[in-house]
Amino acid sequence: MDQSSLIQQAVKMHYEKYVYPEFPLLSSVRRCDTYALSLDALWARFNGNRLPASNKRILLAGSGSFSPYPTAVANRDAQITALDLSGANLRRARLHTLIHRCFNVDFVEGDIMEAHKILGKSRFQFIDCYGVLHHIPDAVSALKSIHSLLTEGAFLRVMVYSKCARKPVESIRKSLKILHIDELKKLKVLYKRSKKGSRFRNCLDSTYESKFDSGLADLFLHPYAKTYTINGLLELLDATDFEPLLFIHRGALPDVKAEIERVADMENKNELSANFILFAGRKQDAAMRLEWESIKNRQDTVISLNPVIMNSLPLLPLIPLKPEPKLGFVNPPINFRGKRLLAKFRKPVKKSTIKYHDDWAWIEQYLKAMFLIETVT
Ligand SMILES: C[S@@+](CC[C@H](N)C(=O)[O-])C[C@H]1O[C@@H](n2cnc3c(N)ncnc32)[C@H](O)[C@@H]1O
Repeated sequence: MDQSSLIQQAVKMHYEKYVYPEFPLLSSVRRCDTYALSLDALWARFNGNRLPASNKRILLAGSGSFSPYPTAVANRDAQITALDLSGANLRRARLHTLIHRCFNVDFVEGDIMEAHKILGKSRFQFIDCYGVLHHIPDAVSALKSIHSLLTEGAFLRVMVYSKCARKPVESIRKSLKILHIDELKKLKVLYKRSKKGSRFRNCLDSTYESKFDSGLADLFLHPYAKTYTINGLLELLDATDFEPLLFIHRGALPDVKAEIERVADMENKNELSANFILFAGRKQDAAMRLEWESIKNRQDTVISLNPVIMNSLPLLPLIPLKPEPKLGFVNPPINFRGKRLLAKFRKPVKKSTIKYHDDWAWIEQYLKAMFLIETVT
């Protein structure tokens, strides 16, 4: 076995032992919080048209134990495939979906590297690869494999560790290796003994993952975790024929170039504290996407509701709806006025009929937040 296969094997064993993430079986997500996983809304955002109702397909590449459930809630009419190295994660994910009566997910145990063999001729409009690539030594081959599974116009969501943001965790990982601390029990003893205000204690206390066992293991005992600079990430995307479409980590700017500059500057100042989260698209679809950007500026378009928001709206009009931020910024409120405004878009509305309306500023905010979507027809 080569080095890369040995690491892959160790990663599999890690996730067979530590199911990740470790949410209680009965934990549930609010439908409105899944708005940014809606394939219809994302497709409209990047391509400016509506997907035909049939054959909507999503792949969760490295699904873990939970994400099939919220993805299925956001996309009741899509066929979802959850692919993961770990059988334990998939079994847990299946339970989460069944408890919440989501029956549109297939669970497949296997390696992303071999996805084209495992999944045959299936092609997907959206592949979610969140928190996975940094655990794969040959990320270029993994991304090439993912690329080959995308349809024309399709996109990928990626989350990878930022070198700058992960510095405290990486330095603790190194120290633990030197001290031969490779078990949760020992790690917890060390935490109990650590001084208040020490770097170790501060790091654990400020990290959400350290609140549960598999999170702690993921942070500090993982057999393989690579970190990326923004340039390293861009090189990886470029080498695999992807281009960034939209960064969505905390504080990200809507313009891709501006965000790359901002992040590079923060890296130089050692100030970056968020991992990278973004949507990427196939380079060969770039012209199509540019055309959509230009149509938006010169042609009339239609605006309608994100289907997830549509299904969340009718609840008590006086109680504001507050979807959790998923695109890197605080969401505009959906209060009484917002609900009445959004309700007008249950059926698509021509942009030319609303552009100079008093509500336009609100509509723009809702478009940015993806509560509303814009398409050619
Ligand atoms: C940190 S978890 C993230 C899970 C999920 N995407 C989420 O965001 O909750 C990483 C997952 O990727 C899976 N994984 C790692 N390498 C993989 C590979 N080569 N092929 C398939 N799955 C892989 C692991 O088994 C694990 O479930």
